[in-house]
Amino acid sequence: MRIAVVFDTPYAGWHHPEHERQMTREVAAWHDDEPEMEYQIADALRRRGHEVFLIGVADDLQYLVHSLGEVRPDLVFNAAEAFHGNPALEYMVPGLLEAEGYRYTGAPPQALLVSRNKAMSKKVLAYHGIRVPHFATWRPGEALETPPGLRYPLMVKPLQTDASAGIAQASVVQDESALVDRVTLVHERFHQPAIAEEFVDGRELYVSVLGNDEHLDILPITEMVFDKRKTRPEERIATRSAKWDEDYRARKGIRNVFARPIAASTRARIESICRTAFRALWLRDYARLDLRLAADGEVWVLEANANPFISYGHDMANAAVKAGMEYYDFIQRLVNEATARYDRA
Ligand SMILES: Nc1ncnc2c1ncn2[C@@H]1O[C@H](COP(=O)(O)OP(=O)(O)OP(=O)(O)O)[C@@H](O)[C@H]1O
Ligand SMILES: [Mg+2]
Repeated sequence: MRIAVVFDTPYAGWHHPEHERQMTREVAAWHDDEPEMEYQIADALRRRGHEVFLIGVADDLQYLVHSLGEVRPDLVFNAAEAFHGNPALEYMVPGLLEAEGYRYTGAPPQALLVSRNKAMSKKVLAYHGIRVPHFATWRPGEALETPPGLRYPLMVKPLQTDASAGIAQASVVQDESALVDRVTLVHERFHQPAIAEEFVDGRELYVSVLGNDEHLDILPITEMVFDKRKTRPEERIATRSAKWDEDYRARKGIRNVFARPIAASTRARIESICRTAFRALWLRDYARLDLRLAADGEVWVLEANANPFISYGHDMANAAVKAGMEYYDFIQRLVNEATARYDRA
C-alpha cells in the first residue's frame, strides 16, 4: 500500500527527504536513543513492504492538504499527537483527513475531543455504568469552593492535557486551601479549566485494546508498580517524573511491568469494562485505558487514551509483543484494522 505517515513535528520546513534522512539516522542509532514514534511506525511499515511517505505537520494545514494531494495515499497512518505544538488540537489532523476524504488509522475527531476532556469522558462512561471518580471542574475565573459531596484527598489536573503534564505530587490535595492553590496553578500555567477528582487508591493498570465493534482484543495488562517501602499511597501516582524520568523511577522503585496476578473474575470484569468504554467513547482501531483497581476489587476508569503512545518498549507495544505480535506486526495490525473498517463501511 501507499501509506502516508502524518505526524506533528517542530521542523516546519522539513519535507519527506529531510524526514527520511532523520529517520535513517535515528533508526540506525536505536540502541542509544529511541527514534521518534513516527519514524518507528514508518520503519515498521516499510519493513512490512509498504511504500511510505513522511508528512510532518507543524502549524500549516495547507501543507498537509497539498502533500496528501501529491502523494495520494491509500491510507494515512495518523501519528499526530498535537497541532501547532498543542496536544489539545490533535483532532485537527483527523478532522482535515475527514474533510478531505482520506482513510486513516485510529480515532475520529469526536473520540479524540471527548476522551481528552477528562470531565466529558467521565460523564459518558458513568452513563454506561462504569465507575469513575467523582469530580468537579473550574474554568479560569470561576469561584472556587469544595462542592458538597466531594471527598478529600482530591487529585487536581488540567482538564485536557496528556503525558501527565501538570501532574505532580502536589496534585494530590488534602484540603480546600491546597485545592485553591493547585487549581489556580493549573489555570495560570495551562490556560485551561482544572478538574479535581476524588483520589482512587489502588493498583495502576493500563489496558491496551485492539480492534473495532464486537471484535476487540484486550492485550495483556501492564501495571505501574511502586516500591511500597519508599512511597505512601498518595505518592503512588503516575506523575510526569514517574512516567518519564528514569533516575527518579530508579530512586523510587517505580517500574512498568506486566500486571501482577489479578483474580480471574476481576480480570473478566476489567475486560468487559474496557470493551464497553471503547465503544462508549467511539474509539477506533486501538486505544489504551488507564484504570485503578482498588483493594476491594472495584475497577475504576481514570481515562481513555484515544491516541496512545505506540513506540516500541512502551506499554501498548509491550502488550502487543506479549500477545505474540512483533512490533512490526503490531503496526501492520493497526493498518489492517483501519482498512477492514473502511472496507466494511
Ligand atoms: N482520580 C485519581 N485517583 C488516583 N490517581 C489518579 C487520579 N487521576 C489521576 N491519577 C494519577 O495520575 C496519573 C495521570 O492521570 P491521567 O491519566 O488522568 O493524566 P494524563 O496526563 O492524561 O495521562 P496520560 O499520560 O495517560 O495521557 C494516573 O495514571 C494516576 O496515576
Ligand atoms: Mg493517563
